[in-house]
Amino acid sequence: MAEVYSISMNKGGVGKTSLVTNLASILAKKHKKKVLIIDTDAQGNSSIAFGQNPYSFENTIYDVMLNGCNPKNAIHTMKKNIDLLPANDDMNFLEFDVLPHLDKYSRPYYLLKDGMKDIEKDYDYIFIDTPPSLGFVAGNCLTYANHVIIPFVPEMYDVKGLIRVIKAIAEFRNDYNPSLEVAGVIGMKVESSTSLHSEMLQEARRYCNQSNIYMYDTIIPKSIAFAKAVAYSNVPAILSSESKNKLVNSYDDVAKEFLEIESVKGQV
Ligand SMILES: Nc1ncnc2c1ncn2[C@@H]1O[C@H](COP(=O)(O)OP(=O)(O)O)[C@@H](O)[C@H]1O
Ligand SMILES: [Mg+2]
Repeated sequence: MAEVYSISMNKGGVGKTSLVTNLASILAKKHKKKVLIIDTDAQGNSSIAFGQNPYSFENTIYDVMLNGCNPKNAIHTMKKNIDLLPANDDMNFLEFDVLPHLDKYSRPYYLLKDGMKDIEKDYDYIFIDTPPSLGFVAGNCLTYANHVIIPFVPEMYDVKGLIRVIKAIAEFRNDYNPSLEVAGVIGMKVESSTSLHSEMLQEARRYCNQSNIYMYDTIIPKSIAFAKAVAYSNVPAILSSESKNKLVNSYDDVAKEFLEIESVKGQV
């Protein structure tokens, strides 16, 4: 049975899609795990990361959530062991298409969970790429997931913002999905040479330690080569030959840390 991870943060550009597509790719390629990526962001960037046009698919996550589409009819294999359930601009209309019709959709935050029924048995891990706001779609992701990982970019978002998001997720969990676990915070696009980044990371670590929230030891450094590989290669950067080793190593370390935590949980 798959463990379902939502990668959530109410900001764009913090590396949600990069983390989802690269972590999924390493787990699939190196660790032979069977992985499904569910894109729920209208920008469709998870498809684009694999060189696919998000408008080329007949069915998307919108059809699974609203039109009774069997997820199997919307899932496409991107690479060996990596499947993708794509999203596109239809997701921008989801809230508008649902909220005025609550007579028809009596459990609006459960549309994703209800739509994905019976898929977990086909995968080791499911990663949900989410939109850059904590709204209706993000709520559906947090209702379906067993775990949430929060990417944190020190320069774009201060620690108060991180705390605010963690608290909002914790409150949502109490109402809709009590078994949801905050599985970790990961420092993304970090420039370790700048004191601002180092200080903010330390502050975030202090808060996480105090609050009993796991913060990954591994950080993903900022890398221009990585951004270029994302823009030009049609595969997630870690699968691209253009990527520089430093970043590939960091993602390797994130995957190792991820699997270590999973194995500890398995023993409990
Ligand atoms: N480690 C990194 N170093 C430099 N740029 C990065 C890195 N990770 C992601 N990016 C770039 O940052 C931008 C936002 O990343 P993305 O994963 O799309 O974030 P989100 O999904 O949160 O909006 C993209 O242009 C991406 O190429
Ligand atoms: Mg994204």
